Amino acid sequence: MKSLLISLPLITSLLFALACQTGGGGGDKVRIGVFMSLTGDTANFGISSTNGIKMAADEVNAAGGINGKQIELLVQDDRSDASEAATIVTKFVTQDQVHAILGEVASSRSIAAAPIAQNAKIPMLTPSSTNPEVTKKGDYIFRSCFIDPVQGAAIAQFGARTLNAKRAALMVDRKNDYSTGLEKVISDVFTKLGGQIVVTQSYQAGDQDFNAQITSIKGANPDVIFVPGYYGDVGLFAKQARDKGITVPLLGGDGWDSPSLYQIGGAALNGCYFSNHYSPDDADPLVQKFVSDYKARYGTVPDALAATAYDAAKILFDAIKRAPSLDGAAIRDALAATKEFPGVTGKVTFNENRDAVKPIVMIKIQEGGKFVVAERVQVEGAAMPTTTTSASPVVPAPGASPAAPNTAASPATKSSPAAAVTPARVAASPATTRSPATAATP
Ligand code: PHE
Repeated sequence: MKSLLISLPLITSLLFALACQTGGGGGDKVRIGVFMSLTGDTANFGISSTNGIKMAADEVNAAGGINGKQIELLVQDDRSDASEAATIVTKFVTQDQVHAILGEVASSRSIAAAPIAQNAKIPMLTPSSTNPEVTKKGDYIFRSCFIDPVQGAAIAQFGARTLNAKRAALMVDRKNDYSTGLEKVISDVFTKLGGQIVVTQSYQAGDQDFNAQITSIKGANPDVIFVPGYYGDVGLFAKQARDKGITVPLLGGDGWDSPSLYQIGGAALNGCYFSNHYSPDDADPLVQKFVSDYKARYGTVPDALAATAYDAAKILFDAIKRAPSLDGAAIRDALAATKEFPGVTGKVTFNENRDAVKPIVMIKIQEGGKFVVAERVQVEGAAMPTTTTSASPVVPAPGASPAAPNTAASPATKSSPAAAVTPARVAASPATTRSPATAATP
């Protein structure tokens, strides 16, 4: 009897201590769940992104944290798998009691995870998923990058106008939301600009043999081939296409950005182009400081994943700082109120769809795997770098008002999800180069 009396308060305090540790808002730390592909098909995406996020968190923690609280990152590997992404986010919101979530890169994985964050009312910010569906999952879901209707329009316009292509082939990963989303925009805009999609072929992530597709594409005699996929498949496809005698340029989107692209595709990629979120050669002091800090820490030039993820983390930390509490709703509202946040990849203001409107760069791959800026694309509503020159006529992306085709600067589309794009030609000077493979430039 006596021993019971003594042990009851002990048990109570033990339970209390346990509760403080595992739940109840995470005690004294700001807990951020990070879900990324650290292994699997697109491991490069997750590794670069996590590097950017860790650097951002360390910077803020070193300066005293957020309102005196240190940031704790809970980093989980989803193995490049959408259902694993959903499982991790479920654990973040049910067990880990995170205050907010950063992830994913690939749109299909963000789409799988977003409804879980939304139901739990925990804000989720993706640095780089560009498919429009992602933020349609609800008002707790944000993205700090441009969307595919804008990116796809830039790619199609580059093919039709800058390269003057009339006939295009499309090579699509049918099970990938990003790829199929871009396919639609590219084909709409390319057709609107007077071009013709002469053949469409498909593949699945991880395929090793593109022989049948290449034969069919070659037979259709295109001027360019749009390949809106991820770097691993693109690199392999490029190689096999060149082996079969196809010489025309391949064009793609941000999914190409990885040091592995050139390691896989090699010289087959020379003279090909892709759209991206930033160029490490941007003269902006903010970009240059980020690039040199990142190089000092990781020994490589940061790719767009590292840059977009660094920005997303900083945007989230800034919102948490402004939020009156660590409640999901308070952080959500503070995120939504983000105005002109000065990111490495551009200024971020979320529009009514919780998407960012930002500039796009078209990158040309040159011999040895050098990435050079071929064109900076002006996106209406996005702050432009000062280095750009005059613009060509605007092409409205699908969804923009069909009543106003090819008109310059229509303020109506300013914050619309399908913002118009204008390529501003900027000569690629030798100074704007980087080696995608390593930090070491010869
Ligand atoms: N935008 C791609 C997607 O939504 C992911 C990606 C972003 C890949 C940036 C590379 C660079 O699936």
